[in-house]
Amino acid sequence: MTSRSTKKSDNDFIFLKIIGEARILTSKILTGSFSTVYLCRDVETAKEYAIKACDKKLILREKKQEYIKREKDALLKLNNTIGVIQLLSTFQSDKYLFFVLTYAKNSELHHYLKLKIFNLECVKYYSAQLLIAIEGIHRKNIIHRDLKPQNLLLDSSMKLIVGDFGSSKILSDQTDSKEEQLNINNNNKNQEERNISAIGESKRRIDRRASFVGTALYVSPEVLKGSKSHFSTDLFAYGCIVYEMCAHGRPVFGSSGENEYVVFQKIQNMDYKFPENFDSEVKDLVQKLLKIDPEERLGAKDPKESIYKSIRDHEFFSTINFDTIYSQTSPLIF
Ligand code: ADE
Repeated sequence: MTSRSTKKSDNDFIFLKIIGEARILTSKILTGSFSTVYLCRDVETAKEYAIKACDKKLILREKKQEYIKREKDALLKLNNTIGVIQLLSTFQSDKYLFFVLTYAKNSELHHYLKLKIFNLECVKYYSAQLLIAIEGIHRKNIIHRDLKPQNLLLDSSMKLIVGDFGSSKILSDQTDSKEEQLNINNNNKNQEERNISAIGESKRRIDRRASFVGTALYVSPEVLKGSKSHFSTDLFAYGCIVYEMCAHGRPVFGSSGENEYVVFQKIQNMDYKFPENFDSEVKDLVQKLLKIDPEERLGAKDPKESIYKSIRDHEFFSTINFDTIYSQTSPLIF
């Protein structure tokens, strides 16, 4: 009897087109992509997948091993978590590491925000789905740390899926999560943060640029200060995303063309305005999430058992049934 390995290889898929890239920024110069996401078709089943191909040589050269490992570990832990991209298998060739992921057929939420069809019903629907996804991620003791509309994907039925866990942080299950949740003491820096302090301000700025390419708009004040991130770091980004959904794609801390320094200043000073006619309930929710002090953000003090009940209970969600929201048809499907 011949034994047949079930492990797939790149020969088992047809690589159809590129649907995403993660680029490396070295001192303002964009070099190659260390990972490229392809739409692929399984030769045997004809099913479509998103396959992330990570260039082994570039990963080693740019010391990005940690990102790849974090992403894989987080996705393995988040298996079957509602609203989270699924890692279906991994394999490798001489040159690449491959992650086989759910294919989110309708691309990024980001593309829909500026459309006139994105009304308050849509804001509620996607804010509720995103909250459920964040709850699931945090329950597994993972902080995403890079929530932004570009990382919110939409599946074939326009349901929201959170992707890109390359910046995530997995807390040990032994860690007292409450302590982690509330541990915002700047003096309590871990080794990683001490290293960052040591390499000096200018290098730090470059490193920040590298990881914040196009993403500075959702970074929390504590992360900008170089403090430890924790669960409510994601709640800050959640507040920014809810605002942006309601403001037809206008980011809370920036307008187009604004430089990164100005955005950082605005975040640190919590300098933002609401457009006229902004819904008053969303406004109240956003104000309760966008607090400089991470502990003061709505939901930050919720116990793990009822995470994020205080957000679910906000009046903005009074018409939302969280138990059925993932089975309800998207308002974007007519
Ligand atoms: N872009 C990045 N990841 C993706 C995915 N899983 N599906 C669709 N587009 C993507």
